Amino acid sequence: MNMLEVKQLTKDFGGLRAIDSLDLTIGKQEILGLIGPNGAGKSTAFNCIAGVYAPTMGDVYFEGSRINGQKPWVLCKKGIARTFQIVKPFATKTVLYNVMVGSFANTNKRSEAKEKAMQILEFLQFADKKDIRAGNLTIGDRKRLEIARALATEPKLLLLDEVMAGLRPSEVDELVDMVRRLRQSGITIFVIEHIMRAIMALSDRIVVIHFGRKIAEGSPEKVASDENVIKAYLGGEYVVS
Ligand SMILES: Nc1ncnc2c1ncn2[C@@H]1O[C@H](COP(=O)(O)OP(=O)(O)O)[C@@H](O)[C@H]1O
Ligand SMILES: [Mg+2]
Repeated sequence: MNMLEVKQLTKDFGGLRAIDSLDLTIGKQEILGLIGPNGAGKSTAFNCIAGVYAPTMGDVYFEGSRINGQKPWVLCKKGIARTFQIVKPFATKTVLYNVMVGSFANTNKRSEAKEKAMQILEFLQFADKKDIRAGNLTIGDRKRLEIARALATEPKLLLLDEVMAGLRPSEVDELVDMVRRLRQSGITIFVIEHIMRAIMALSDRIVVIHFGRKIAEGSPEKVASDENVIKAYLGGEYVVS
């Protein structure tokens, strides 16, 4: 059984069709990459899967059950977590507090929430910053905090929306490594990323969308040499380095 199945997913905003009949599947413990030019509908696809928006048409199945239109907190309990492209931590609260907010998805006990949060901070090699206020973190550390908050909800499927944007190359390498370790720990990962080097290195398969439609799908090597993909990116929007 696939972890996630998206069938003929369509999302309209007024007259604008942001996602158009999108089909895709993700197997358990797979890393699927989603790429496409700005405005292609990538974040909208995530929002439809994570319950932020109800699809206009089409279906989303998680572990074999239809989840269309269920609320984000319901889906979070079922095991879907996402990061947001624009990170919004509680700026005046500490890193630990922010991660604990995620752990409370699965427990009401403060001690358990704290223990879980600490485990995640250690896994992310972030525990030394646990007492820093989120508003004082560097961009790289804010991204890490965003991932930690999502992980604290103990997801089976993690949706990462451009978590590497704005990071230094060494920070990108660290995150690539970290996402690989997450997969090894049993999590299935769906990742949107603009940095081609990172998404090529990470993904088992890549789906490419343009104007809300799938224009290519396959191994990183296959999509990188696909004529439609190259055409969609003319204008050099992608960071190739
Ligand atoms: N809440 C919204 N209301 C109206 N239009 C939206 C909304 N969210 C996204 N859009 C539009 O949908 C299209 C796809 O956006 P988005 O999914 O954010 O693209 P991407 O993440 O690929 O850059 C864009 O044209 C965007 O302006
Ligand atoms: Mg986006």
